[in-house]
Amino acid sequence: MDPLQAKHQMTLAEFRSLRDFIYAKSGIFFSESKQYFLENRLSKRMADLKLKTYSDYLSMLQGFQGPVELKHLFVEITTNETSFWRNPPQIEAFQNIVLPEAARLARERGQSRLRIWSAACSSGEEPYTLAMICQDLKDSALRGLSVEILGTDISEKVLAQAGDAVYNSYTLRNLTPEQLLRHFVPLGKDLFQVKPEIRRFVSLRNFNLVDYPAYRQLGTFDVIFCRNVLIYFDEAVKAQVLKGFHDLLHSRAHLLVGHSESIHAFNTGFELLHFSKAMGYRKRT
Ligand SMILES: C[S@@+](CC[C@H](N)C(=O)[O-])C[C@H]1O[C@@H](n2cnc3c(N)ncnc32)[C@H](O)[C@@H]1O
Repeated sequence: MDPLQAKHQMTLAEFRSLRDFIYAKSGIFFSESKQYFLENRLSKRMADLKLKTYSDYLSMLQGFQGPVELKHLFVEITTNETSFWRNPPQIEAFQNIVLPEAARLARERGQSRLRIWSAACSSGEEPYTLAMICQDLKDSALRGLSVEILGTDISEKVLAQAGDAVYNSYTLRNLTPEQLLRHFVPLGKDLFQVKPEIRRFVSLRNFNLVDYPAYRQLGTFDVIFCRNVLIYFDEAVKAQVLKGFHDLLHSRAHLLVGHSESIHAFNTGFELLHFSKAMGYRKRT
């Protein structure tokens, strides 16, 4: 056995205390079958901090160093899997239906700016995908409107990667060669950087989706993407997060969640929409 792992064996009591702490701070819920996963994710951090037991680590998280260590904890425990053009049928529905409709509603309300929130944006592939579409539609469906895409995440590490906007061909696999050429600058060694005219649509900030009082600081939105993060939350957290989205969305505005995430059991404020091979939700009133 790896000596580090042997040194940092987590007891069931430690797992439960850490699990409850993580749930309270992030909404991420680890069932008991995930003890090994958590041990695996945290053992390197424990070694870096020269801590011997997970009880020591929890004490640190609860002590005066807690706020700083919490940022490291979020980096370690989150799963940040993402890619450009993820779930293509839903992205196409955004391009062909959701965005033109959002622009129409915005004009009706007299807005000059459209705001899109990529909540839990990971390393930026999702907000930059949306930005490429906005760039392509700026003289047609979006004519006369400026667009801001806010990308938020709980992990500082992925937000820094999003800020660099440098990607390899694996995460770009769903793009056509033409899109790659149009929207990226090749940096060599299989790396490509998003062009400045796409990056300028996107602003990034750290935001914890369970910080419910902070939602109103973000302002109102015409579309919210929250894909592949609700699966980590239990029903109580999902319901609160969805209420937060509902409060910030304009009337009739769209919410797009991951393809395996269903929300209708939790919130009656949204109606389910069927697009071609994809689903979405819309605020009822
Ligand atoms: C699997 S990625 C999804 C990325 C992108 N939305 C997509 O669908 O490709 C999930 C992201 O949720 C973030 N996350 C987890 N809990 C969060 C929370 N409480 N607040 C904000 N972001 C959170 C993680 O850091 C991670 O980057």
